[in-house]
Amino acid sequence: MADRERDDHSGVETTGHEWDGIKELDNPLPRWWLWVFYGCIAVAIGYWVIMPAWPGLTGYTRGTLAQSDRSDLTKELTALQTVRGAGAVKLKTASLEQIEKDPDLQAYALQVGQSVFGDNCATCHGAGGAGGKGYPNLRDDVWLWGGTLTDIQHTLTVGVRSGHPGARGETVMPAFGRDQLITADQVADLTEYVVALSRRKADRAAVARATQTFADQCSSCHGPLGLGDRAKGAPNLTDAEWLFGSDRESIRSQIWNGRNGVMPTWEARFSPEIIKALAVYVHVNSGGEGAPAATTAPALAPAPAGAAPATAPTPEKVAQLTAPSRPAGR
Ligand code: HEC
Ligand code: HEC
Repeated sequence: MADRERDDHSGVETTGHEWDGIKELDNPLPRWWLWVFYGCIAVAIGYWVIMPAWPGLTGYTRGTLAQSDRSDLTKELTALQTVRGAGAVKLKTASLEQIEKDPDLQAYALQVGQSVFGDNCATCHGAGGAGGKGYPNLRDDVWLWGGTLTDIQHTLTVGVRSGHPGARGETVMPAFGRDQLITADQVADLTEYVVALSRRKADRAAVARATQTFADQCSSCHGPLGLGDRAKGAPNLTDAEWLFGSDRESIRSQIWNGRNGVMPTWEARFSPEIIKALAVYVHVNSGGEGAPAATTAPALAPAPAGAAPATAPTPEKVAQLTAPSRPAGR
């Protein structure tokens, strides 16, 4: 190679490359950079030796560690299936009560229940199961269709007004106002009557006028005292829990329109074991009728304050509220 040109200013040789009068100096690479570079090469060679690296015609070099994500996953899945398999078999054979009483089995059922609930039920009943307008709260111990383990299992299996031959809810609340079964005045009076039933201040004259209408039109489902009827899914009208809202407009609207909730049947979608797990999950987390407290449970958030226990007013109390001889007033 011919003598290289030297840069006048720095005295460093140039590479001979030149762009628009700017020449490239031939400075050596910094030493630290070179060491990092050699280090990387050494690490790469080491990596090829111990880890899977080079593709070949029939596979790849496995490396001395023979590490493989796929085999790790298979190992984990097998371990999980061993645990789950045992749980699933027990779910199949054990009764609902046995599942709930056995701490290990309960914990397993609650885990399965929680995950299935999140994917399938939370859309309607809310993530914590607290419900919303038209969708019952599943974490209180107030039930439309019954809150024992078998009641809940049955509700889940057949659904509500779902079209399943055994579905709950073959009776529906009529649209009393819309279908002109009673007059708008009667609907207004009944609204006051329902407000009085839940032990709140109501227009006494209206309550008195509605007494006979309630007995004629409503008591067949909601009972003479408004305590409801689980066989028909007719809510207790005397408690603090409301499916469609506790305010006068919500009550009037329900008497007028007679909305009736629908829940699909889950029989076609889930195995009986999953339905059992769900029933236990709902039962335990609602503090369900006769249920032991969840100990190891991934529990739902605590029930909201104000979910007062439903105690029925005495017949005397209702008579008093609805007595026509009482002076009118709010
Ligand atoms: C499409 C909306 C919807 C989905 C999804 C749904 N539900 Fe329901 N569920 C309802 C409605 C509406 C009712 C109330 C029916 C009525 O008015 O009687 C209900 C009622 C219930 C009841 C009876 C409550 C009582 O007071 O007796 C239980 C228990 C229940 N659902 C559990 C579940 C579980 C568990 C799942 C998931 C597998 C689920 N629901 C999914 C809409 C739904
Ligand atoms: C054939 C049975 C039936 C009759 C008769 C009936 N109801 Fe109902 N009622 C129901 C059912 C079932 C529900 C719950 C609907 C649902 O689950 O979606 C309900 C719900 C209600 C609710 C809403 C309660 C809540 O928690 O939000 C009110 C209020 C009510 N009824 C008042 C009346 C009044 C007043 C009458 C008489 C005019 C009456 N019902 C007659 C079956 C009946």
